[in-house]
Formats: sequence, structure tokens, C-alpha cells
Amino acid sequence: MYSPTKNCELIVFGRASQRIVFQRKLPLKADGELLLSLMARHGINLASACQGQGICQKCSVWYVGKKILACQHTADSLSRALNEQNDDHRLALEVDYL
Ligand code: FES
Repeated sequence: MYSPTKNCELIVFGRASQRIVFQRKLPLKADGELLLSLMARHGINLASACQGQGICQKCSVWYVGKKILACQHTADSLSRALNEQNDDHRLALEVDYL
């Protein structure tokens, strides 16, 4: 099945280090890849003790002022919700322990 891609600028701010720990434009699959997996694929390894079942809460990230579980959301759905009018998506996250 054809899966179109678009660009997404992923920005990860570490609250512990008080700096941007990752910022890069990435191709993003429209059919969705979990945020936890996308971040791991680019070297940002979030804690995870339940293999993405949504139980341990260790993969929590801050997104638009709310804590969400990276194993329960796709990067595409989050960036699309913020940037419905744009083709160029930006996804800014904060992680407590980075
Ligand atoms: S990995 Fe356990 S809640 Fe996300």
C-alpha cells in the first residue's frame, strides 16, 4: 500500500538539561508511526517498561502543555492537529529527564 510522506520538524527540549536535545526535519509517514518508535529510530530513547502497552507511563512527554504517552500517539496525528493548514509540520516536545 502506498504511504505518502511529508516533512515534520521534530524538536525535543530536555527539561533536565534545559536545552534542545534534538531538532531535525524528518520524513513522516502519513499512515502513522508511534512517537515512541519514531524517536527511538532517531536516537532519542525514551524510557519504557511495558513495551508500549500504555501502563508504565515512563514514555511520557510534554506536548502543548499536556503530558501524553509517546507509545499511544502517532507523530503524524499530533503534528497534523497543530498544523492543519500547512504541509510543513512541526512537532515540539519536552521530556522531563533529558
Ligand atoms: S511505554 Fe509504558 S506507557 Fe508508554
